[in-house]
Amino acid sequence: METQKATCNRCFRHAVQFLTKIRPQNTDRLSKKHRHYTTSAQFSDKNNVDDDEITKLSKSASDWWDVFGEFHALHSMNKIRVPYIKSVVLQQLKSNSISQVLPLKHVNILDIGCGGGILSEALARLGANVTGIDASAKNIHVAMRHLSLDPVLSRRLSYKCITAQELAEDGHLFDCVVSSEVIEHITEKDSFVEAISSLLKPGGSVVMTTIGQTTKSYLAAIVAAEYLTRMVSPGTHDWNKFINSDDLKELLSEYNLETVDIQGLCFNPFMSDWSLIDDTSVNYAIHAVKSINEQEDKE
Ligand SMILES: C[S@@+](CC[C@H](N)C(=O)[O-])C[C@H]1O[C@@H](n2cnc3c(N)ncnc32)[C@H](O)[C@@H]1O
Repeated sequence: METQKATCNRCFRHAVQFLTKIRPQNTDRLSKKHRHYTTSAQFSDKNNVDDDEITKLSKSASDWWDVFGEFHALHSMNKIRVPYIKSVVLQQLKSNSISQVLPLKHVNILDIGCGGGILSEALARLGANVTGIDASAKNIHVAMRHLSLDPVLSRRLSYKCITAQELAEDGHLFDCVVSSEVIEHITEKDSFVEAISSLLKPGGSVVMTTIGQTTKSYLAAIVAAEYLTRMVSPGTHDWNKFINSDDLKELLSEYNLETVDIQGLCFNPFMSDWSLIDDTSVNYAIHAVKSINEQEDKE
C-alpha cells in the first residue's frame, strides 16, 4: 500500500514538474507560416538538420533491438505499418503475378530516418530492395551491425548516413518512400517534404506515420508516455514540432503529393499492440501519391 502511494506521489510530482516546465508554446493549429517552428534548435549549416534532435535520437544497439525496451512501441508498430505499406505498394504495382513469399520483390523503397533498422529490415524481408538512411551515424552503425547477422537480407538492404535533403541532391529516385515517426522531430518540415517528393518517381507512394498536434497528443505522447509511464525517455518529443493530419496533407500537396488515405493508429500499452482507428488526433499514418504530371500541376 505504502509503495503504491509512493509511486503515485512520484508520478504526480513528475507530471507537475513537467507541465510547468515544458508547456506547449502555442495550442492553435499550425498555420502555414508557423511551419518553421520557433524553437532553439541548432542546425548544421548544410541541410537544416536539427543537431540537438539527432543527438537525442542517437541510441545504442541495446536500445534499438530490445523488443521490450525503449523502442518496444516501434517494434510492435511493425504489425500494423508493414501490412499497410505492403498494401500501398501492391496497389501501386497493379500486378497479377505477386510472389507469395517475396511480395515486394523488385520494389525500391527508401526508408528515411530508419534509426536502428526496425522497419527497413521488415520491408526487406518482404523482398523489397530497401535503402535505409538516417542523419545519425550511431544509428546507422547499429542498423549495419544488426543487418550483418543476416547475410541473405544484406543483399537487398543497405544503409547510409545521410539526410533526406542531401540524398535528394544526388538525383536518386524510388518507387516508394517511407518515413515513420520522423517528421515530428523535424523543424524544417518544408525542405524535408520537398526532398521526399524529389526522391519519388512520378506515381510513387509516400507513407508517413507521425503524431498530431492536439491536447490529446500532448497528454498521451508526452505526459503519459514520457513522464508518467517512462515508456519513452523524457524529452524525446517536442509537442511544438508535432503536425496535424490536415496540415501535413496540405504540406504534401504543395510538393505534388496527393493524399489518398489517412488512418488513425492507437497504441494499447497494456497489450503492447496497435490498431487502426478513425481518430487521427494522436498517432496516424498518411499515404500520398506523387502526381504524374508534375509540370501541369505547377501551372
Ligand atoms: C524515432 S526514430 C524512428 C526510427 C524508425 N523510422 C522506426 O520507426 O523504427 C527517428 C529517426 O529519424 C532520424 N532523423 C531525424 N531527422 C532526419 C533527417 N532530416 N534525415 C534523416 N534522418 C533523420 C533520427 O536520427 C532518428 O533515427
